[in-house]
Amino acid sequence: MKINNRLKAISNYIEDNSNIIDVGCDHSLLGIYLCLNRNNIKVIASDINKNPLIQAKANIEKYNLYDKIEVKLGNGIDTIDEKTDTIVISGMGGKTIIDILNDKRKIKNINKIVLSPNNDINLVRKHLIKMKYYISNEELIKEKGIVYTILEFKKGKKRYNKLEILYGPILIKNKEQLFLELIENEKKRLKEIHKMIPKNQIIKRYKLKREIKLINKI
Ligand SMILES: C[S@@+](CC[C@H](N)C(=O)[O-])C[C@H]1O[C@@H](n2cnc3c(N)ncnc32)[C@H](O)[C@@H]1O
Repeated sequence: MKINNRLKAISNYIEDNSNIIDVGCDHSLLGIYLCLNRNNIKVIASDINKNPLIQAKANIEKYNLYDKIEVKLGNGIDTIDEKTDTIVISGMGGKTIIDILNDKRKIKNINKIVLSPNNDINLVRKHLIKMKYYISNEELIKEKGIVYTILEFKKGKKRYNKLEILYGPILIKNKEQLFLELIENEKKRLKEIHKMIPKNQIIKRYKLKREIKLINKI
């Protein structure tokens, strides 16, 4: 079975013997791929919409994976069970992900959370740190001209500075080509905005100048 590079990169964060919930599973491609390529994987393939789950069930049937993938209709992690140790959420906005991961009781047994938010990555980092997870890995992946961020969190506490929350401690440390290109573009974007802010808007200009100073540290 073939999946795109983005989902494949996400799958690399899931080890043998995991009990995962794929929230917003759509057609359950990730869950199926994992069951076919890892040992002893159990998946809850969960989505808030009925229609994708019809296709998910058809796909699961095609690969005869009934005993490994349970399809559940529901909002966020309402469909989690007590055996789940890993949460995967990809292809949703950062604020939706934050809403989904906002209940400490529901995630108390979760050791690992793998996320690929479409936006607001910094807010997602901040939220998970507040929920007492640390960033164990980060990666950028380019698919059809779009750059996606994959974040892996594990249970535990670590301290991060503002620069790390904004741009990613591991991405900053690794300084891979794709990341450096994004940072260069962001620097240009911030400088352009700064030029456009009228001189009398002193606070706005000051705040942006501070942001530029921060990103220049990378
Ligand atoms: C763009 S698709 C992403 C599919 C897949 N996870 C991926 O990365 O390719 C987003 C999916 O999330 C589902 N979704 C959106 N909000 C949700 C929520 N609050 N709880 C569960 N599923 C949700 C949508 O129905 C849709 O199937």
